[in-house]
Amino acid sequence: MNICVIGTGYVGLVSGVCFSDKGHYVTCVDIDKEKINNLKNEIIPIYEPGLKELLKKNKDEGRLQFTSNLSDGIAGAEVVLIAVGTPAREDGEADLQYIKAVARSIGENLTDYKVIVTKSTVPVGTGQMIKEIISNTAGHSHFDIASNPEFLREGSAIKDTFQMERAIFGVESERAERILKKLHEPFQTKIVVTNVETAEMTKYAANAFLATKISFINEVANLCEASGADVEKVAEGMGYDHRIGKAFLQAGIGYGGSCFPKDTQALLKIGEKAGYSLKIVPAVESVNKEQRLRLINKLRCAFGKEGLKGKRVAVLGLAFKPNTDDMRAAPSVDLIPLLEREGVEVICYDPVATSKAKEVIESLQSTSTLYGAVKDAEAILILTDWQEFKDMNLEQVKLELKRPIIIDGRNLFDPLKMRDIGFYYDSIGRSVVKIEE
Ligand code: UDX
Repeated sequence: MNICVIGTGYVGLVSGVCFSDKGHYVTCVDIDKEKINNLKNEIIPIYEPGLKELLKKNKDEGRLQFTSNLSDGIAGAEVVLIAVGTPAREDGEADLQYIKAVARSIGENLTDYKVIVTKSTVPVGTGQMIKEIISNTAGHSHFDIASNPEFLREGSAIKDTFQMERAIFGVESERAERILKKLHEPFQTKIVVTNVETAEMTKYAANAFLATKISFINEVANLCEASGADVEKVAEGMGYDHRIGKAFLQAGIGYGGSCFPKDTQALLKIGEKAGYSLKIVPAVESVNKEQRLRLINKLRCAFGKEGLKGKRVAVLGLAFKPNTDDMRAAPSVDLIPLLEREGVEVICYDPVATSKAKEVIESLQSTSTLYGAVKDAEAILILTDWQEFKDMNLEQVKLELKRPIIIDGRNLFDPLKMRDIGFYYDSIGRSVVKIEE
């Protein structure tokens, strides 16, 4: 099939590349000419394992192309996927200006029947708004709108797309349903067919539920700390129950990234507009906000009366999660300036996110190796669960440190092992390992 993907952000680019790899002919459109030129030269704007190679392969095989001209992009396409950003406005509501602009441009260039599919996460009712804009601009209604929300995760985006667990088709006609089924045939996935509004809601509900799981286990972790229980075991014990499931019960410093914080806020706004005020989601957000700050308290406890002023602390991990350089809503963005305000000398290391981090944390001091960051530090703060950190040589790290203190926001190590090596080790939802006097 010939398809056009509008917007070459995470969702658009990964979808475009993966659909082309399944045999479809894909044209990716973006108004950012520099981005398009870079993509033509196989320079991709994000760090996503495997994406560059897959892009090159499909481009070389003639199934994937890039243009900044929307009219060229949609000409000949049976399906148009809208994958432009819906950032949060200051009040938390999703900003639909890019969606509206794209809808107008589609309307201006719509000459034959197409299915116009929204992949971006958009508030309930956006599909109908798009329909109105397109038919007003085009002067006809020879098209169908549809909603097909995207569930991929950063860092495993390609695998998530190739092995999608389901596809939701919010449609208004059998013709659109048939076309979307054909588009997804190579993925052999479960399909849920519904109306546009339900599909739009499903995406918010799924993200808010996952965020709820995280905040829930983090609250349990905080309770575990206060009562001598071990959250890792609690999560394991809960997770074997298939009604609960193991996934997303990893206690830590809370969620960040481009979706959960934005989508939970947007869902609250959807509720407000609909006259229903959600009760669970605000609690999820407030637990998440506080959770990252607990790490600073843990550091304070480790230094006791000495206080934090003048201490050199190595921060390991800047990205909001491993295998990405995405800094959006990353805990490090809040924590590093707070530490600096307390007079802490912070030195950071992240395997890939350092240069993006420098764009958002002006004062950032960094090293190019993990061992460079920990050298002569008086404590380590672990913020991201990169494999490289899990694999670090703890004996060597202990030798490099001035004081063997590790505050672990991601529970990377076994406290008993840390005790044996001789660390002061404080993690999330487990007892603190103290150095014996
Ligand atoms: C998420 C959804 O998973 C995806 O379906 C949606 O399309 C976009 O939003 P993403 O933001 O890429 O994907 O990351 P994800 O792997 O879900 O992690 C989000 C945050 O939750 C990270 O900060 C991660 O560290 C945190 N997390 C995740 C936990 O703290 N504990 C967990 O058990 C799982």
